[in-house]
Amino acid sequence: MQDLKGRVAVITGAASGIGRGAAEALAAEGVRVMVADIDDAGAAETVALIAARGGEAAAIHCDIAQDDALEALKAATLARFAQVDIVMNNAGGIIRGLPEHIPVEEWQRVLNVNLLSVVRSNLAFLPLFIAQGHGHIVNTASFAGLYTYAFDRLPYAAAKAAVIQISEGLALYLRPQGIGVTCLCPGPVQTGIMRSMREFGPPTDTLGPDARFGLKQPAEVGQLVVDAIRHNRFMVPTDEQVRPLLVDRATDWDGFLQERIDHPHVVMKAG
Ligand SMILES: NC(=O)c1ccc[n+]([C@@H]2O[C@H](COP(=O)([O-])OP(=O)(O)OC[C@H]3O[C@@H](n4cnc5c(N)ncnc54)[C@H](O)[C@@H]3O)[C@@H](O)[C@H]2O)c1
Repeated sequence: MQDLKGRVAVITGAASGIGRGAAEALAAEGVRVMVADIDDAGAAETVALIAARGGEAAAIHCDIAQDDALEALKAATLARFAQVDIVMNNAGGIIRGLPEHIPVEEWQRVLNVNLLSVVRSNLAFLPLFIAQGHGHIVNTASFAGLYTYAFDRLPYAAAKAAVIQISEGLALYLRPQGIGVTCLCPGPVQTGIMRSMREFGPPTDTLGPDARFGLKQPAEVGQLVVDAIRHNRFMVPTDEQVRPLLVDRATDWDGFLQERIDHPHVVMKAG
């Protein structure tokens, strides 16, 4: 989608972090943005930030964990802007706990927010995109879905791995119909994601994806999203260094695991 000016983007989780970064970057290109979030104050702040730079945005309360939320989001966006060209399924949340401590209900909650929200979005927005013969979907996954670097957040990693698979299937299905699909895979990005983290069982050391990845800022990630939509890129990691790492894993999976067991990348000690 080369011409972004005048387009309309719906972004979930745009009250903070990566979603806000993408909202601001797209608005700077002339895209009108529907800021969807459960955090009303944060969403209003994103709208104000965009308006202060001459852009156009509106906020809506949207809980992506609810079955009818994405249909309502589509209806509200069409009522406000009369079109939808870009949908960024970005809102999500993390969890911490060892596998023997995380109850089934918590698995269900994490899968509901991080994975079924994408399913709901597809049900709501795909018929519209297919009928109009254009559109772009951005699904925010994670390095955690590309390879498992930590064992204390498996529901999150499983949800994000599934988001990557769904995104790839959507690209196969939708590209021939003129609809772009991007799978944004963030590594470490400075956001508010740890604020809402639930914890189960004893504290654990925080393991990071790898020492080679630096901390990115949401604005940088927002620019990656703009470029991905403009050039119809599928896989967009926030750090290109993840590609050789994935080659290492594919080449020697056992060796890759052993390396992580022998030399874990501890970002923060427990307690
Ligand atoms: N920050 C990182 O290092 C990192 C790394 C990999 C992936 N991600 C992914 O990036 C995405 C954005 O996270 P972030 O890092 O910007 O965190 P963030 O906490 O700054 O932003 C997440 C936003 O999602 C919203 N949200 C949470 N649950 C919601 C719900 N049920 N309905 C609607 N909105 C909801 C929050 O209110 C918040 O505004 C998430 O999917 C996250 O898993 C982040």
